[in-house]
Amino acid sequence: MEPGVVAGTRASLARFIEEMIMPSFNFDSLAAIYDATRGYPDEVATHIAGVLDETVTASTRTRFLEIGVGTGRIALPLAARGRVYTGIDISTQMLSHLEEKLRAAHWDTVEAPWGACGDEVEAPEWVRRFRHTKPEASMRLAVADVHQMPLRDASFDVVIAVHVLHLVENWRRVLEEVRRVLTPGGMFLHCADSRGESGVQEVRSQWRRILLELGHDEQRLYRPSEEALDEVCASWGWQVERWNAITWERSQSPRQVLAGILRRDWSSMRRVPNDLFAEGCKRLERWAAARYGAQMDTPLKDERHFVISRYRVKG
Ligand SMILES: C[S@@+](CC[C@H](N)C(=O)[O-])C[C@H]1O[C@@H](n2cnc3c(N)ncnc32)[C@H](O)[C@@H]1O
Repeated sequence: MEPGVVAGTRASLARFIEEMIMPSFNFDSLAAIYDATRGYPDEVATHIAGVLDETVTASTRTRFLEIGVGTGRIALPLAARGRVYTGIDISTQMLSHLEEKLRAAHWDTVEAPWGACGDEVEAPEWVRRFRHTKPEASMRLAVADVHQMPLRDASFDVVIAVHVLHLVENWRRVLEEVRRVLTPGGMFLHCADSRGESGVQEVRSQWRRILLELGHDEQRLYRPSEEALDEVCASWGWQVERWNAITWERSQSPRQVLAGILRRDWSSMRRVPNDLFAEGCKRLERWAAARYGAQMDTPLKDERHFVISRYRVKG
């Protein structure tokens, strides 16, 4: 075999291995733009919070845990309904944004060391506690890895995960952790934003095609599939129901979609090796100029859904 071919094969093998064992993606570098790029319109955020609350028939005693809570896009409107809420994340920056939002919404700080609540073990490096009156609610935030949470077994009635399992090193281990901290008869809500009819999707699909041509399969980052998740949960006797909670519409011009890709606004883009990314951008810009021409600033429809999978844990 030619030496160049051997070197090429080695490089692809190295990249294959590197991509198979991927460390968790910490959102520190995306925290400043997270809400501007992923935030829901207010009425959508409120609707989602209401549906999640009803989905688990929550009361003031229901103990919620959100893994990968981020800037509180889901947590804040849900907890503000008068809930007992815990959020775990590896990103101090994301949690700091949530902390700022809680202060702005007049939540009070509560000073208490880790261990003050019965479900707390092994102090995390960063902890904040907040309380709200009218309605009474609490929010406890900790920087920790969801592969190994500093929380006791069977401490939560509901665990929520939104756009996090595809970012962790080992989603099966995280799911085992979720199972460990859930009470018998508890619920696991796995939720995701998805696209319906969308012109924006054409640009994203083209980006994926270009990356594939360059040897980078972006699609493999979006694991686990619903089927894989259902299979593991079913093996534990957890029953699943899945539905779309809300549909709303946004619009973005091809130029805006392109700019988001070039800025690497999404974690999947940050995981593309720099050399491939630069070449991919050149190809995408060429494609977009030919495809949209004078229509580069014409808004494209972008229909969004919020899909909930509810797993009921055996009692
Ligand atoms: C896409 S954001 C989602 C945030 C929030 N759930 C939402 O829907 O807005 C994913 C979050 O998961 C966090 N994350 C990724 N891997 C993690 C891990 N192993 N342990 C804890 N948090 C993790 C990231 O830092 C980030 O804040």
